[in-house]
Amino acid sequence: MSTIPSEKIDQVRNASDIVDIISGYLSLRPRGKNLFGLCPFHHEKTPSFSVNPELQIFRCFGCGAGGNVFTFIMRIEKLTFPESVKFLAKNAGIEIAEDETQIENLREKEALYYANKFAAAFFKHTLLEEAKAEQAREYLAKRGIDRSMIDRYDIGYAPDQWDGLIKWANQKSLSIDVLKKAGLIIHKEETDSYYDRFRGRITFAIHNAGGQVVAFGARRIIDDKTPKYINSPETEIYQKRQTLYGLYWARDAIRKQNHVVVVEGYTDLTSLGKVGIEQVVATSGTSLTEDHARLMRRYTTVAILLFDSDSAGAAAALRGADILLESGFEVKIATMPAGEDPDEFAREHGANAVQVLLKSAKPLLDFRVERLQSPELSQNSVQRSQATRELLATVARIHDPIQRSFVVQDLANRLHVDENVLWREMPHVRPQRRIATDQETPDDTHDPYLKSRRGRAEMMLIKVMLLHPLLAASIMSVITYEHFRHPEIQQLFQSMEQEILMDGGFDAQSHIHKIQTLQLAEYLVDDMGEKKEELSKKIAVDCIITLYDSQLDDEIKSLREQLKEFPERGSEITNKINELHRKKSILLSREKLNEKALFGS
Ligand code: UTP
Ligand code: MN
Repeated sequence: MSTIPSEKIDQVRNASDIVDIISGYLSLRPRGKNLFGLCPFHHEKTPSFSVNPELQIFRCFGCGAGGNVFTFIMRIEKLTFPESVKFLAKNAGIEIAEDETQIENLREKEALYYANKFAAAFFKHTLLEEAKAEQAREYLAKRGIDRSMIDRYDIGYAPDQWDGLIKWANQKSLSIDVLKKAGLIIHKEETDSYYDRFRGRITFAIHNAGGQVVAFGARRIIDDKTPKYINSPETEIYQKRQTLYGLYWARDAIRKQNHVVVVEGYTDLTSLGKVGIEQVVATSGTSLTEDHARLMRRYTTVAILLFDSDSAGAAAALRGADILLESGFEVKIATMPAGEDPDEFAREHGANAVQVLLKSAKPLLDFRVERLQSPELSQNSVQRSQATRELLATVARIHDPIQRSFVVQDLANRLHVDENVLWREMPHVRPQRRIATDQETPDDTHDPYLKSRRGRAEMMLIKVMLLHPLLAASIMSVITYEHFRHPEIQQLFQSMEQEILMDGGFDAQSHIHKIQTLQLAEYLVDDMGEKKEELSKKIAVDCIITLYDSQLDDEIKSLREQLKEFPERGSEITNKINELHRKKSILLSREKLNEKALFGS
């Protein structure tokens, strides 16, 4: 069992809608009450993988895989149960502390979140209310950033003074230490004093995937020699390689549009948002990482990179494109007219023009091939072979070998190069693949106990109880946890019992999600939701009889052993054994124990 407290598991479960999570791995289409897609656990051409949003479970009718959101993650990411909880927790922005040091650490993180939230409120207040922000308000107005965008994107203004935030924090008794750890103020060695990091700048609050402010990007409003933007340093709660500006706001739109648009800048994102294009994230000046790709993969597998055609960042953007490709994205490139960035483009040409641009985005390979065929490159053989290698590196990232060989054929034709030359070059440009962490999925699907008559009866009974909470109470009046041998089922029974005793009923879903054994989860969700009615009292009675019967068998067995050990008590023990046999036959003839006796009516 994991050391993760069950309230935490519940919290993670509540925050992890199974449809959202599974949609990150495959596309699901509604059919009836359920959603269907191609099963990720076996090869198939027609969808037999179903997700039941109501019960928050999945089930493949082809290969039999099934379970809850945790066991889905266990299977697909090859994780243990606690790892899957942590995986989903991270996804939902929930912190899980396991021991004292981590609890301490968590407290510290909470303080950092608080400091950032506090600063965002201060910057926004300053922008909206203070006379000293007049110039900032003019600047924003000039750039078309209006009040609704200020609210939507958490934009503010850091006043042009050394201690604006520090003073405010003092008044509200927020400690200097926390401000410093959050990167909001800077320590000055010589005088052992502190000053605000952001001064006289427009602030863009950067949110994590859970919607908490973790950092800021801040733009100067006058053309001085200082950097255009300065950003929060990395902290306990802010890692650049794991944060995408705007992802929190864009998630729903990304899912709906089934693609994500990747831009470079804060204002690119806000201006696109203003014209209604919301499926956008910004790398904000850092290069795209595998972690970024993984974050986006939760919502879509199609990425459109939108950047300035002559920007110096184009090369970096193409590197990002390769990373996305390698992470399983279908990558397209959309370029704007020279000299315009998405912010200017959206403001000048409007939503429709942006839509056209996105629709005309070219697949990464086509884009690379065209670049290769551009006049400048065809003149310069050194640059040309360099670009060819880059192109091959992109091809080498295509996972499917058959698709890859088609692409190579196609390229050879288009570039007028011998196919064999391309193949020969390929190994030299091939990216170093990460060594697969082939930690096997914990395989408990062959637990013989769960296949035995008794094991099956335990599973079935628990299943009936989960489906019929009213019946559960009656069953609990004749069955105790001691009737169960399987430790996990036993625990499940106990926690259900506890809940029924305390609250008079229970939340079946929360119990389904406590299950950590793949086979058990699979069995429990098998047909759940479909054949509810067929799992009747009769099955419950059969299971109860089986469990009673097995219990009697156990007792008889132990008496037989006693008989061998204490022959002098022979007749007494034999009598007991006979008594148990009689009980057994009554039990099996169902004279005493039947539906009516158990459940009334
Ligand atoms: P750009 O230089 O393209 O700026 O940098 P921009 O987004 O068009 O900014 P505006 O429109 O002039 O306000 C793209 C991104 O790179 C990061 C920022 O995240 C910026 O949005 N950047 C840029 C920095 O972090 N520091 C800088 O000095 C410049
Ligand atoms: Mn710009």
